[in-house]
Amino acid sequence: MKGIILAGGAGTRLYPMTLVMAKQLQPIYDKPMIYYPLSFLMAGGIRDILIITTPNDLKHFQSLLGDGAHLGIQLSYKTQPSPDGLPDAFILGEEFIGDDDICLILGDNLFHGDNQFFIQALKDHNEKKDQIKARVFAYNVADPRAYGVIEFDKKNHSVKSIEEKPEIPKSQYVLPGIYIFDSSVSTRSKKLLPSKRRETEIVDLILTYKEENSLGVSTINPGVVWLDTGTPKSLLHASSYIETIEERQGLKVACIEEVAFRMGFINLVQLKQIIEKIPKSLYREYLEKLSMTLE
Ligand code: G1P
Repeated sequence: MKGIILAGGAGTRLYPMTLVMAKQLQPIYDKPMIYYPLSFLMAGGIRDILIITTPNDLKHFQSLLGDGAHLGIQLSYKTQPSPDGLPDAFILGEEFIGDDDICLILGDNLFHGDNQFFIQALKDHNEKKDQIKARVFAYNVADPRAYGVIEFDKKNHSVKSIEEKPEIPKSQYVLPGIYIFDSSVSTRSKKLLPSKRRETEIVDLILTYKEENSLGVSTINPGVVWLDTGTPKSLLHASSYIETIEERQGLKVACIEEVAFRMGFINLVQLKQIIEKIPKSLYREYLEKLSMTLE
């Protein structure tokens, strides 16, 4: 399984903050936003990841994360000249995907809590490949109108409908920005037509699998926190949430160096080499303390 982080888009809802810096590089409390989806993929064991950015922001992401070798992962980059819709990621990433399965995560999505739902979904995808070729997730939210909304059949819990940003949602279950597809996703994406908002829609892509009865849906339990961070208010809420958790537990959420170590992608010597290069900061202190407890 490979991963794609879609970190393109103009981030207009965060203007003027996004005038010179991509949305996915804005801080969520104490680290750049992209650390959250990146660490999430890493904690799922995904090590070969393509980051899609705007041409302007490419150099910023590259200087932040490099080729990933220091984290024991492989990062590559591709630019998206204009935001033509989420399925565009699979067209831009066609060569990267090759014959492999692919997990797409949106660069402004933040998950926190037990990631077992994701590990299980990856396992299910591997084991049921003959039947299920795409897997999406369902998460209960108070206001579903800004999302893709899934309606379930009450009797057998199968998917009845999926609608993008409906005015009158048929349920409170929505699609978070994480999706698993087989390698046919690029070919399918090329066939999609733009919607009213002049973008191709991920919902239309997902429906091609539903029509073939090859779509799986996993419900995420409310113990897992999912936040998206596209507006100033949601950015502040996400920062406050992370600050509260980190202060209380004394553990960092989405510390990519720690995740790389805990997943066995790097060893203690490599972790220490990373720490040596970090300037004096709370982030460095945290990793120093961690490396001492590991000795
Ligand atoms: C996109 C998808 C939508 C999904 C959401 C999750 O919305 O189109 O189906 O629920 O991401 O963050 P957008 O970010 O384009 O508003």
